[in-house]
Amino acid sequence: MGVLIVCESSFGNTRHVAEAIGAGLAKKGHHFELYPVEKAPREIPDDVTLLLVGTPTHNMAMTTAETRARAVAEGAPSSPSIGIHEWIDQVTPKRTLLVRTFDTRTTGRFLPSAARDATRALKSNGFHGAKTGESFQVDPRTSALADGELQRAHEWGMSLADLDAVME
Ligand SMILES: Cc1cc2nc3c(=O)[nH]c(=O)nc-3n(C[C@H](O)[C@H](O)[C@H](O)COP(=O)(O)O)c2cc1C
Repeated sequence: MGVLIVCESSFGNTRHVAEAIGAGLAKKGHHFELYPVEKAPREIPDDVTLLLVGTPTHNMAMTTAETRARAVAEGAPSSPSIGIHEWIDQVTPKRTLLVRTFDTRTTGRFLPSAARDATRALKSNGFHGAKTGESFQVDPRTSALADGELQRAHEWGMSLADLDAVME
């Protein structure tokens, strides 16, 4: 299975999660490529059988230019010139491609998250195989991932490898 991971990150947490997910997939023998959102392809290569889309949660949804600027004002080293929402608007949809979204956030699991918002946008742009995956917790006091979350991301990556069976 070829896996394409597209991720957005300002403080670095979503990128670390994406890398841990990729490492989990690699442990199960799957090849993955990870792109930061501004460099991600607008045409999904034909050998990609699973697309993973990761984004920080800003205002209970995907980021906007304004919230990305706020992240920088709050100490993020930099922010990408486009966010996942803009990429979803630009990428050519693949109706049957398996897609899972994930996010990072500081709030609890019952509030709306960016992964859910990204799934909605992907589906309405023609990715009918999109489903919401996992949220990973960032500690609001330190702006770093909470204990155990990288391990959980690694395990989720390994579990995604089993989707192979679903596809065959
Ligand atoms: C402008 C802004 C708005 C945010 N809004 C939310 C929010 O609504 N819910 C939440 O759980 N976290 C919120 N956060 C915290 C982010 O989710 C957190 O900074 C992010 O997960 C870090 O990811 P990154 O390190 O990949 O940039 C917000 C952060 C910023 C900068």
